[in-house]
Amino acid sequence: MNGGNSEYFLFRHAAFYIESEKFFFLIDPFISDNPLCNKTPEDFSSVDIIFITHGHGDHIGNAIEIAKANNATIITNFEIANYLSAKQVKVHPMHVGGTTTFDFGKVKMTPAIHGSDISTDSGILGGFVIEIENNKIYHAGDTGLTLDMKLLKDLQIDIAMLPIGGNFTMDIEDALRALKMTQPKVAIPMHYNTFDLIKANPSVFKEKATTDVKIIEANETITLLKKIYYFNSLF
Ligand code: NI
Ligand code: MN
Repeated sequence: MNGGNSEYFLFRHAAFYIESEKFFFLIDPFISDNPLCNKTPEDFSSVDIIFITHGHGDHIGNAIEIAKANNATIITNFEIANYLSAKQVKVHPMHVGGTTTFDFGKVKMTPAIHGSDISTDSGILGGFVIEIENNKIYHAGDTGLTLDMKLLKDLQIDIAMLPIGGNFTMDIEDALRALKMTQPKVAIPMHYNTFDLIKANPSVFKEKATTDVKIIEANETITLLKKIYYFNSLF
């Protein structure tokens, strides 16, 4: 780890809340319809930036209402940004391969192999490498295994959030191969057990991984860069 004082709040599925010294971030805020999340959109009263990896409902989630309530900026691909802009949401459009330096640090949009949602004009989709207080976080988004992940090794990722649930994304075996390619310091499994189609045992991922894996249990707080909170009412 490179240090820094960020706090990480994880919700089940692919939703994360990250609190740094100066900024508050949400990634893929699937909150009210998320059967494993015991928060409501109203619980988020200080959000500066929201990242959306793609337009599927379990990722765009409550982004619009939370962005409006907090006057937050949504960073997402160009097509979703246009869709949100028409709904009077503040946006910063990006696209795969692009890097931009924001007040809080650099963001690079990475490729992901998956589908898009026609109702949100979501176009191509991606993941993000987000630099917050000198820590590099890779949120893979919904993706299958891709050789492009090899390129991320050079970025020296601190934390990789990787889907392991299979069916729609990488399963455990492919996530393990993604780990070998990206070589983060720590990996956090995501996008599993929310629905019947994405059942997976994160302990198997942890046992087989050559990298440090943090599994976040129900309503647990763990220390990583500083803290990770995980809210889950079912487990
Ligand atoms: Ni998806
Ligand atoms: Mn998904």
